Amino acid sequence: MKKRIIECEFEEYENATELSELDRILFLEAKKISLNAYAPYSSFNVGSAVRLANGKVILGTNQENIAYPSGLCAERVALFSAHTLFPHEKIESVAVYAFSEKFVVNEVVSPCGACRQVIAEYEEISKQPISVIMGSEAGIIKTYGVNQLLPFRFSSVGLKS
Ligand code: THU
Repeated sequence: MKKRIIECEFEEYENATELSELDRILFLEAKKISLNAYAPYSSFNVGSAVRLANGKVILGTNQENIAYPSGLCAERVALFSAHTLFPHEKIESVAVYAFSEKFVVNEVVSPCGACRQVIAEYEEISKQPISVIMGSEAGIIKTYGVNQLLPFRFSSVGLKS
């Protein structure tokens, strides 16, 4: 038996002014669109902005529903829309921001497992790492490549004979 450890590398920023210009624009787009979230059940408003290689930015917010599982996270709303509108364009970066009017969001919002799996698939077809910028009032974290967030992910290799 061998014990192995996987490390996760990420960058921490105190606020958006520390980000590079491209990242700052994307982050601020995610923050701005979070105001449009439809989150009456959780009061957790999330905005996401996806940057494509052609420079286009596609936005999404979380969309909830009285039948709870019918809702969708902001990241997947943005990613699915980006890949619908520009199916051949590489995805470079995903930013996500959360706030609540009812409670303090004291941690950065980080994509759920399902969103990570979706990012992983687009990374695979884009053949390049997708950076993920996660933020809230508490600060900002950036990772390069979904591997930092989802080691041991399920990939198509498992489906081939
Ligand atoms: N949510 C997102 O939109 N993105 C995340 O990264 C985490 C969670 C949404 C789903 C649901 O509408 C609400 O936040 C509470 O889980």
